Amino acid sequence: MSCRTAILISGSGTNLQAFIDAVAAGNLDLDLCIVFSNKPDAYGLERAEKASIPTACIEHGNFPDRESFDRAVIEELDRYAPDLLILAGFMRILSPAFVDYYKGRILNIHPALLPKYPGLNTHQRALDAGEEWHGSTVHFVTEELDGGPRILQGRLRVDPAESADELQTRVQAIEHKIYPEAAGLVGSGRVVFEGGRSLVDGDISDEPFVQSYE
Ligand code: GRF
Repeated sequence: MSCRTAILISGSGTNLQAFIDAVAAGNLDLDLCIVFSNKPDAYGLERAEKASIPTACIEHGNFPDRESFDRAVIEELDRYAPDLLILAGFMRILSPAFVDYYKGRILNIHPALLPKYPGLNTHQRALDAGEEWHGSTVHFVTEELDGGPRILQGRLRVDPAESADELQTRVQAIEHKIYPEAAGLVGSGRVVFEGGRSLVDGDISDEPFVQSYE
């Protein structure tokens, strides 16, 4: 039985689209059971509807604090009994209670080669630092922002003459490959989160898989 997967978005949802396309092409064995947004105008909701995936939206502005919003999200998501949560441009920091509730079952993609450049403006920061390599990382979500065990990285060589926008476009194209692939590894049980670390085929793996792209 395929892994019941919730995808959480706030915006355009190009990563969501990559999941939809990979499942439709038969390249990814996940059951996309719900697409959740905290923004009613997120274009990703339309992508989900076109693909006949149920959608839900709860606006965080209607809640007095992070904890009460997160409790409402849990209640909504649990109606779909997800095994796995995919954060795909979900622009909310999750409360420790939320992360603990779905412990080891939340993935995020961060546009940098973690542990380098957690946080924002990653492309400009990589350019400013004169990095030879830059890319994106799929990782388990823990309470530490952008700090959970890394699963898969996609990297490319930085062209010092390119702009942050150009670099971002190239990195996003990589994300659309590595995110479904990493989620498939978790969905199939090959990669699991245990004791705060990532296990691959039962062995502790503190280094992510790395794929290099042009
Ligand atoms: C991605 O670039 C990802 O790295 C970041 O948010 C962005 C989401 O883009 N966490 P999209 O909504 O999937 O197009």
